[in-house]
Amino acid sequence: MPQLGVNIDHVASLRQARYRNQDLTSIRGYAEPDPLRAAHEAELGGADIITVHLREDRRHICDLDIKRLSPFLHAKGNLEMGATDEMIQIARAQGFEMVTLVPEGRMEVTTEGGLDVAGNLDRLRDVVRRLKADRPAPGVIVSAFIDAAPHQVEAAKAAGFDACEIHTGPYAHAFANVGGDLLCPTLQAQLQLVRDAGHRARALGMRFNAGHALNYLNVGLIASLPGISELHIGHSIVSRAVYVGLREAVREMKAAIQSA
Ligand code: PXP
Repeated sequence: MPQLGVNIDHVASLRQARYRNQDLTSIRGYAEPDPLRAAHEAELGGADIITVHLREDRRHICDLDIKRLSPFLHAKGNLEMGATDEMIQIARAQGFEMVTLVPEGRMEVTTEGGLDVAGNLDRLRDVVRRLKADRPAPGVIVSAFIDAAPHQVEAAKAAGFDACEIHTGPYAHAFANVGGDLLCPTLQAQLQLVRDAGHRARALGMRFNAGHALNYLNVGLIASLPGISELHIGHSIVSRAVYVGLREAVREMKAAIQSA
């Protein structure tokens, strides 16, 4: 069964809706909802990985969250970030077990496309090297969030990544468009692209992870792909948590993955 990575950025988005311009350290009991407490609830619900995306504009998760989270987590910590010098420094200082490199657009609501590893091979090879340098065993797992395209998987291997997180946005879109009917060729084609990219990543010795726009209905087909290691899910779990609480929302997603 693949591991579940829970992205808790949206918990920080809710906090920022109220406390955007305040010094969080000066608020007794910390401003709510606190991503640290959310991480704990997610762990109790069975999250194997906690993911936070530290964006350049700090629009949700902020530096203080990163500092507080990294020593606190029982689950594997996954820091999602752009491939900038500032972020490399933070990742190296905070010691998360895993780093996922994503493209970052200032105007985007969420991560939109995969990282263009093939088009930035030299730079990304250097970034991966710097993230891994002098990290004591077992080191850090560096993952590339990429589109389900063979040339991007090959480039990820050439750049030294340990894992490919295959972008499931187009698959999720196709799933929604046809009501999850697997007899529809458009859905079959998108699922096949994810399967092939994952197969290629594994054949090259990398981990096969997947994520983006997965929800309780569309997760099953992806969770049952051969050799898949991790699923990274945020929006649908935090949305469900509004009704049932985060611990239960994570539990339900684990159950959906298990039943697949
Ligand atoms: N994986 C990556 C690399 C992401 O950037 C995101 C969004 O933050 C996710 C997974 C989770 O996507 P969603 O919120 O749509 O579940």
